[in-house]
Amino acid sequence: MAIIRFIREGIDIECKPGENLRELVIREKLQLYGLKGILGNCGGVGQCSTCFVSVEGGAKNSLSPLTSVEEEKLNNRPDNWRLACQTLINSSAVILTKPQSPPSNLKDLKESAESKKLPR
Ligand code: FES
Repeated sequence: MAIIRFIREGIDIECKPGENLRELVIREKLQLYGLKGILGNCGGVGQCSTCFVSVEGGAKNSLSPLTSVEEEKLNNRPDNWRLACQTLINSSAVILTKPQSPPSNLKDLKESAESKKLPR
């Protein structure tokens, strides 16, 4: 089992390696999308660029490699951003949903997330 630590929400979710990150977020009823994505998203086929997450911790290969869709859609975005719908979970990781709208207390949330050991 892997743990995905969602720092905005302050929760750890257990999941199986190979699970799709977008599907995990939806299954757990977390909010993945900002307003644009709520109003209309592509349903997870890598076309709308509204399912951004940033990877804030975990092993280097804790998530699947960037897909060719992400290489195109994440051009000019920070290196640690992913499209959740294109991302498969290999092992435990720390994730920020909606990094395009970071919470004002992001520094505190990151420190709190880093203070707890993350299982591999
Ligand atoms: S849901 Fe549209 S790009 Fe991920």
